[in-house]
Amino acid sequence: MNAETSGIGVEAVTKIYPSDAGPIHALEAVDLRVKRGEFVVLLGPSGCGKTTLLRLMGGLLSPTNGDIRVSGRSLWRNGERDAAVSREMGMVFQDANLIPWYSIEKNIALPLQLRGINKSTRTEKAHELCDLVGISGFEKRWPRELSGGMRQRAAIARALSYDPNILLMDEPFGALDAMTRDSMNLELQRIWMTSGCTIVLVTHSIPEAVFLADRIILMTPRPGRIDRILDVNFERPRELDLSASVEFQEIAKNLRHRLEEIS
Ligand SMILES: Nc1ncnc2c1ncn2[C@@H]1O[C@H](COP(=O)(O)OP(=O)(O)OP(=O)(O)O)[C@@H](O)[C@H]1O
Ligand SMILES: [Mg+2]
Repeated sequence: MNAETSGIGVEAVTKIYPSDAGPIHALEAVDLRVKRGEFVVLLGPSGCGKTTLLRLMGGLLSPTNGDIRVSGRSLWRNGERDAAVSREMGMVFQDANLIPWYSIEKNIALPLQLRGINKSTRTEKAHELCDLVGISGFEKRWPRELSGGMRQRAAIARALSYDPNILLMDEPFGALDAMTRDSMNLELQRIWMTSGCTIVLVTHSIPEAVFLADRIILMTPRPGRIDRILDVNFERPRELDLSASVEFQEIAKNLRHRLEEIS
């Protein structure tokens, strides 16, 4: 598969939500190409359409106009979602959304269960994933017995369970304290480097964006458009100390100023 057709293509996408107070123009003519294996971060003021764009990429919403392509194939055809395309994707949200009466292992294996995979294969995969996301030993525990950061790790493991090529993440660490968030950023970088998947992550945090991204997509509100796209070229793997460097601070400062201007 060549670079033209792999990854995600957002082509002239407009999204208008109907509402009692009249139509809400959430996105206007957004064009974006996410390359295969790339780590892209969506950043922008509240209400600029980040979640809308992510849900469009994941096929949870259909565009009012324009097209979304995954690995060169349209996500929607005649109002129907292409099931094969959406199976390539895993999603992680701000809340881990684990099933409280399922063990961690069973939660992680749920997508495999839904796909009819046998129990021993599921269990083996769940154990491998617990190891990958750093919660091994907690397979038999209940979600309530884990900390917020550990629950979020389990949610990431669940999203990775069926080997998605693409991971879409909407403020996955928004509810965590700063230190846990830092360590989750490191872990996510490691998981991404190990799995080779494509990641699109939404955040409100400028340092998180600069630390994680190959490219930052800065969005403006009403209606949501792409303001600018910024390449972040620090070597990998990045260490947390990077955020103290002059280069890092300069990028973060420029982003902060631009965000203040457009908010
Ligand atoms: N289901 C919906 N029905 C109507 N309007 C919606 C719906 N979802 C979002 N919107 C509107 O679309 C716009 C973009 O919302 P969206 O949730 O995508 O923004 P966001 O950038 O993710 O914001 P935040 O940073 O606060 O999460 C907002 O004006 C919002 O009110
Ligand atoms: Mg949002």
